[in-house]
Amino acid sequence: MVKTIEWVNGKVIMLDQSRLPLEVSFIECSDYRKVAEGIRELWIRGAPAIGIAAAMGIALGAQEIKADNFTDFMRELGPVFNEVLSTRPTAVNIKWAVERIKSLLIQRREESIDRLKALLIEEAKKILEEDIEVNKAIGRWGAEFIKDGDTILTHCNAGALATGGYGTATAPMLVAKEEGKRIQVIADETRPVLQGARLTAWELMQEGIPVTLITDNTAGALMKRGEIDLVIVGTDRTARNGDVANKIGTYTLAVLCKEHKVPFYVAAPLSSIDFSITSGEFIPIEERGPEEVTCIFAKYRIAPDGVNVRNIAFDVTPHKYVTAIITEKGAFIPGDLKKLMKKDVNLERLRVRPYFKS
Ligand code: MRU
Repeated sequence: MVKTIEWVNGKVIMLDQSRLPLEVSFIECSDYRKVAEGIRELWIRGAPAIGIAAAMGIALGAQEIKADNFTDFMRELGPVFNEVLSTRPTAVNIKWAVERIKSLLIQRREESIDRLKALLIEEAKKILEEDIEVNKAIGRWGAEFIKDGDTILTHCNAGALATGGYGTATAPMLVAKEEGKRIQVIADETRPVLQGARLTAWELMQEGIPVTLITDNTAGALMKRGEIDLVIVGTDRTARNGDVANKIGTYTLAVLCKEHKVPFYVAAPLSSIDFSITSGEFIPIEERGPEEVTCIFAKYRIAPDGVNVRNIAFDVTPHKYVTAIITEKGAFIPGDLKKLMKKDVNLERLRVRPYFKS
């Protein structure tokens, strides 16, 4: 599997996901503004991946700073933080990365400016490496909910491309396959940007997982026919009550799951959980330009010129529709998420396990 993002010789190299699957090409960024442009323009997308990109962008921006003391260094980093924070509002991972970096700098404020610049590069690489390990752990917990022969539906792309590697929603699928379970995946195409068709189908085919592509409006018909055993999706931000923001259309799927008694799981690294907000109503929802809806690949117009468009990029699924949230620490019912904030929590007692023998 190709790498989504990497730090190579003082530059950030990102796979241009906007061209997949027709073209595998990479963009070299030696300026934090270009990294920010990449996040805005969806060259890189997916909550954990844009968190990593933000950290690498900040590391790039820091190298340009000429300050010779900590106060000036932090002041000059301010516009860099603001630029990455202004790119996309819904995924909490950008804010999470900025806060992690700020607190590291404050802890190490006595070190030289050159050392701090080097530390930022190390930290960005660490965020990427940790993300892969987190995803593997999500995979191990999540695979317990997959039985031999299951058909799993997923929406958008919460795969390797959306992360440092391995994916969140796809991780349980990869582990299930490694365990010898015969699974197949149904990928929603995911209008308007087609992350399911272009990215999820592409990466699962490379992993040798049988995948079938459907239009977004087919999911209900398949559930009614009993052809879907479970749904696993990712999240851009989950509130502490378990309300889940994810790609537009996720809410529709969750309601369909309830009607058809199909379990609805959310794979969520703890970095995607915003413990500072009590419910999904506080999650900022990105609205994007009309051309993603009126045109295919900004080239082929499919709607009349001048038509009114709403292009809401994410929706919030209320926690009552969520069967379990699968994190790197185990799977939990949404109502128990807030208990993870306590230091002395007994995770083993809180974890939900499948009622069948996997
Ligand atoms: O607009 P995108 O492609 O960034 O949206 C991505 C999603 O909605 C993913 O499901 C989410 O970020 C989780 S990625 C592990």
